[in-house]
Amino acid sequence: MKILVLYYSMYGNVFKLAQAVAEGAKKVEGSEVSLKTVPELVAEDIIEKSPGAKKAKEQQEDIPVATLDDLGDADGVIFGSPTRFGNMCAQLRQFLDQTGELWQKGALIGKPAGFFCSTSTVHGGQETTLVSMMLTAIHHGMLVVGIPYSEQRLLTTKGGGSPYGASSVSGMMSDQLPTEDDLELAFALGKRVAEIAKKLKS
Ligand SMILES: Cc1cc2nc3c(=O)[nH]c(=O)nc-3n(C[C@H](O)[C@H](O)[C@H](O)COP(=O)(O)O)c2cc1C
Repeated sequence: MKILVLYYSMYGNVFKLAQAVAEGAKKVEGSEVSLKTVPELVAEDIIEKSPGAKKAKEQQEDIPVATLDDLGDADGVIFGSPTRFGNMCAQLRQFLDQTGELWQKGALIGKPAGFFCSTSTVHGGQETTLVSMMLTAIHHGMLVVGIPYSEQRLLTTKGGGSPYGASSVSGMMSDQLPTEDDLELAFALGKRVAEIAKKLKS
């Protein structure tokens, strides 16, 4: 049972959530979890000039870039993106816009999909960003998986995490890393998608 955590992160916050999601998915027996990113679109010299982006790139240098086959072969996928004006980022959008062939083949139909994101501000569009990723997944026939309120942290979180998916608030400088609650909810999401993928496959 293959689980793909497919994300983009410029300053490292979504990357931290992605790692927690992957850890959660790994808890499910029989899961083979891969953590992959998508091709960068920002020019190298822009990244060089931003200490935050440069550091995050270094942290992610071992993370492979996903191919379309990685996506098509997965039994469950958890998509992650930073918020860009209330939407998913261009890097993930661009990757997903190349999945026409997978759509034609119906390669993702009936597979579970979860979502996670990070914003600078609490009301900066976490839920819209999660929904923006869901729209594409729904067109692919994927089954949208959220986080149920049996996860107690959803009742008390002061930052990220909602029934729509995992998230974090990184602050105006994008340097406030996900909290323990954010990471636990991300872990729970990864585990849930893997559990559902396993049931669907059996
Ligand atoms: C072009 C651009 C647009 C953004 N739009 C929003 C936004 O609408 N709302 C928000 O809260 N943060 C916004 N942000 C901030 C990022 O979503 C935030 O820094 C996020 O935590 C970055 O995740 P990362 O560390 O994984 O790159 C924007 C950042 C950029 C560069």
